[in-house]
Amino acid sequence: MDAISLKQKPSTPLRHVLSSSQFDRPSLEYLCQLTNTIRRFDKSREGLAYLASLLSHKRAMLYFTQPSTRTFLSFHSACQIVGITASEIRDAATSSERKGESVEDSLRTFSSYVDLIIMRSPIAGLCDRIAALLDATPRPVPIINAGSGPDEHPTQALLDIYTLTRSLRTRGGIDGKTICMVGDLKRGRTVRSLSRLLANYQGVTLRFSSPPAFRIADDLRRDLAAAGVAFVETDEFLSAVAGADAVYMTRIQDEYDLEADARGTVDYRRYHLRAEHLPALREDCVIMHPLPRRDELDPEIDRDPRAKYWRQERNGMWVRVAVLTMLFGVDNRVELPEL
Ligand code: CP
Repeated sequence: MDAISLKQKPSTPLRHVLSSSQFDRPSLEYLCQLTNTIRRFDKSREGLAYLASLLSHKRAMLYFTQPSTRTFLSFHSACQIVGITASEIRDAATSSERKGESVEDSLRTFSSYVDLIIMRSPIAGLCDRIAALLDATPRPVPIINAGSGPDEHPTQALLDIYTLTRSLRTRGGIDGKTICMVGDLKRGRTVRSLSRLLANYQGVTLRFSSPPAFRIADDLRRDLAAAGVAFVETDEFLSAVAGADAVYMTRIQDEYDLEADARGTVDYRRYHLRAEHLPALREDCVIMHPLPRRDELDPEIDRDPRAKYWRQERNGMWVRVAVLTMLFGVDNRVELPEL
């Protein structure tokens, strides 16, 4: 394999991955390029064997107490690719939390046995709290936020940026593009994390299309305004997606509905992308969705060349491999000249 010259490595090493706001433009460009480089190792048995040797001395705990398919499996696979042995808890009821142990004590216990904790939780801010707690212990293992309530999903946002970067590479990249996000924007953590990352690009316009009840939260609105990002909020659907360079569909996040809420009172059907809408989209529109989907994205659209969400999902595994190498400081070993 030929040597690939990577862009300048960010000067601040990754300690934890808690929020998309940790990433600036140079670190995003570095991550995208590192991911491209890593994918080249996938092309040969020797390349994969080399990747598997990078972190074969490390162990990780995947603590996922909120449902997940792709984030869990892509992180699990990413760990396998770089040789990390992964163990898992997917239900707090199977841990000593069931006996009354606090989540803080449970996570500190994991840190006694592993070198990395990848966690998904329904509780906003829990990852930050655990990272601060462990940083004050003699064994401060890194934390990766794999989704924290309606708050943040930073590695999803990283794979979204990677997918946009690749999909728009022949059109000048993300700078200057109009990205339309549709759906439950109030509680959709992927939208929050991705919007913050998009603030790193020049001249981006964000269109937020949602029912009035699901508009973006005040803190995101404030942050985007402070960063000088041009954005519009609308309850229109078709006029919002028309002309956008990328459309990012999301599902209704009704797992956060309280029982007292009248589930289903918001008519969400207006925000469904159906095959009949495709002619209204740009010919080169990038159609994305963090998945899982329900009815908001017609499976018929899967066959359209503009649909990038299955690729987006697979990109997630490689971006997570890159994140793991950065976290353990072995990313500089990815550009070996010969394999
Ligand atoms: N996109 C995403 O976070 O999917 P999962 O909930 O399946 O992990």
